[in-house]
Amino acid sequence: MQRRTMRWSALAVGALAAACGTPTPTPNPEVTYYRDVAPLVSQKCLGCHQAGGVAPLQLETYAQLKTNAASVAAQVSSKRMPPYLVTHDGTCGNFEAQETLSDAQIATLTRWAESEMVEGDLTHIDKPSITHLDGATTEVKTPNLVPVAQGGQLAELDEYRCYVAEVPAGQAGYLTGYEVTPGNAALVHHVLGFVIDPAKQVTGGHTNAEVMAALDAQDPDRTGWPCYGLAGDGVAVESVPISWAPGQGPVSYPTGVGAALKATDKLVLQVHYNLADPSVRGQSDQTAVKLRVAPTVQRKVAFLFYDPLLNSLFSQQPTVIAPHDPHAKLSWDSTLGAEFPYLSPLPYVDLIGVLPHMHGRGVKQQLSVGDANNTLACAADVQRWDFGWQKVYFYSGTPTRLTKDSRIGISCEWDTSHDEQAVLPGWGTRNEMCLTVMMVALPEGI
Ligand code: HEC
Repeated sequence: MQRRTMRWSALAVGALAAACGTPTPTPNPEVTYYRDVAPLVSQKCLGCHQAGGVAPLQLETYAQLKTNAASVAAQVSSKRMPPYLVTHDGTCGNFEAQETLSDAQIATLTRWAESEMVEGDLTHIDKPSITHLDGATTEVKTPNLVPVAQGGQLAELDEYRCYVAEVPAGQAGYLTGYEVTPGNAALVHHVLGFVIDPAKQVTGGHTNAEVMAALDAQDPDRTGWPCYGLAGDGVAVESVPISWAPGQGPVSYPTGVGAALKATDKLVLQVHYNLADPSVRGQSDQTAVKLRVAPTVQRKVAFLFYDPLLNSLFSQQPTVIAPHDPHAKLSWDSTLGAEFPYLSPLPYVDLIGVLPHMHGRGVKQQLSVGDANNTLACAADVQRWDFGWQKVYFYSGTPTRLTKDSRIGISCEWDTSHDEQAVLPGWGTRNEMCLTVMMVALPEGI
């Protein structure tokens, strides 16, 4: 409606000018496609919105953008696109967020979409140049697989599958960077990499290795196993050093920092295949992950799985989420030392990134940490949770330093309006989580 009115008024001014005998001014539009819009779209959108990309819509040409202008304006002004789930306007933590648009850039796109959408002078548009991971030491691959939609309410047009990726001998050490390259970009919506200790005792007196073997054996015709949440039902995860969403490019950890990958560990890759587009069904994918592994690092990274909801499963009375509530909320407040006693001997840890995680009913999540007065202050805020985008968000600038006495808090909101019964926490598709994986750097020498 807004857009129409503006266009009509522009026409009306032109008509009036003509009627008064003044010459129509030479068009000198404020915003043009080639000068202002195309470079932005190229940088911030084409990684996904090009032929063969993960997004359903191509935005490579003037005509394509013009046709979709209203939808583009709506998506960028509501900050749904480019996808970046944590609030990144400085009101809650400072995030790197290079892939997002600034307010000025959003204004440029919307102003163009609401104007005459002038094409301007043809200039060459650079597609984002592909950069590669410096110093990769090895590469692992998922099996070549034709994904099959799993059906059901939460994976109607998707498959989430986990595989053990054999890390070549001699590659134990510390992961300092990675680069994910999907074999079929139209299928692969996200990739997570988990480090698993196969000997670790998990539920029912089994080891991780036994649980994974049992999951894998359920479907002997296809490699891997289903894993909607993390690495599959009952599998205990040490760390999530790899997380990738389309268009991301190589990821390097801050200098000198690395995540342990022991020779006995297993690296499990979770791939989310999206089959919403009928034309990709029946196609296969084999995704490659380059790793950069260093024999030693200055500072080790730890991944703190902060999920008081899930932890309540191990108490006498698990916490449940109330049914029939579009805004079912729960929150917790604790200290770092109480939640992660093994950190207590350390003088401090530095919070360098967060990976928020909930399941299909998730709506909002907020992580808070103690500030200088140890009063809880917002550290990561997701206002519109979307299970489709699983990613670590790295902080920029000086990281927040936490000690064992630092307060930490988390609150989650779910939509349980379709649930008849209280929702239990758990790893399964129908269960819920309220998890922030906190990526922290340990002090040097530990
Ligand atoms: C990381 C990949 C990625 C980037 C970057 C990205 N998009 Fe998207 N976009 C998607 C995907 C995937 C969808 C499909 C919906 C979904 O899965 O969320 C989508 C959906 C859309 C839609 C809605 C299409 C529809 O059918 O309604 C529009 C419009 C859009 N994106 C515009 C943009 C613009 C403009 C940019 C850049 C400023 C951008 N996107 C950046 C992946 C991306």
